Amino acid sequence: MNTLSINNLNLTYKNGFQAINNISLEISNGMFGLLGPNGAGKSSLMKTIVGLQKPTSGSIIFNDIDSIKNPEYIKQNLGFLPQDFGVYPKISAYDLLDHIAVLKGITDKAQRKNQIVKLLEKVNLQDFQNKEVHTFSGGMKQRFGVAQALLGNPKIIIVDEPTAGLDPEERNRFNILLNDISRDVIVILSTHLVEDVRNLCSEIAVMNLGQILRKGEPKQLMAELENKIWSKSLEKNESESHYSHYEVISRQLIERKFHLTVFSEDSPLDFSPVSPLLEHFYFYTLTQKP
Ligand SMILES: Nc1ncnc2c1ncn2[C@@H]1O[C@H](COP(=O)(O)OP(=O)(O)O)[C@@H](O)[C@H]1O
Ligand SMILES: [Mg+2]
Repeated sequence: MNTLSINNLNLTYKNGFQAINNISLEISNGMFGLLGPNGAGKSSLMKTIVGLQKPTSGSIIFNDIDSIKNPEYIKQNLGFLPQDFGVYPKISAYDLLDHIAVLKGITDKAQRKNQIVKLLEKVNLQDFQNKEVHTFSGGMKQRFGVAQALLGNPKIIIVDEPTAGLDPEERNRFNILLNDISRDVIVILSTHLVEDVRNLCSEIAVMNLGQILRKGEPKQLMAELENKIWSKSLEKNESESHYSHYEVISRQLIERKFHLTVFSEDSPLDFSPVSPLLEHFYFYTLTQKP
């Protein structure tokens, strides 16, 4: 079992902006979803965990080893798929993986080949190994990104917004792949798409303004909202401002009708009860003052 323990972590950038505000998290094997809107601080947290930047204060302990004082251990056991991979060099998928494997310290050529062949199969790119990565589609690039992250059999895999820009089929395939991997390692997935974490993650945390607002198992978090979510469709000339005294958690167009979903401890007039979804929990959490 692998464990990542983050304690009272703070990060203030050079310009004085505090992107991480006293975060503590315990994460073990399986898939952990970090949910938050753009600007919440997800990438800042991930870059700090992988050692690309040092926190201002606090600790990150991976498998009982202090990752800030001894960054080598986590680096040797890490797979990272950053939000922006940058520009790919003009070499084939195979050669790029071989190059990254060397950087990861896999010095034996036969061993590298063995791993690369297996990984290309795992991410279903075996037929494209001689093509240059910059010619790949978005989904293929992300799967290549997973393959490079998996080189060297990491114990912790961190993927930052991996499904942004993928079409639904690619997203689905990508999520199945991540799910497959997460049995024996820690996978931390950041996203602003609730759908991606709902079915995949055994645990989630909702982050905003540098803070973890809530964390827990999706099922339990949703259960908290049982009998507290209500919805109604607005009539053509009905104004939303009638309902401004309710805690509005979403506004949606369904079949060209405007639907209002609210949080309420007791039954609001003219609203129908709705089974709580993780989306409701997410938006409800974001509307609460930290
Ligand atoms: N290097 C940096 N210097 C100053 N501010 C930064 C830096 N990187 C990110 N930020 C700011 O920190 C906040 C969180 O950004 P980020 O971690 O990228 O959030 P997310 O990944 O959740 O969208 C944003 O307001 C962003 O502008
Ligand atoms: Mg980000």
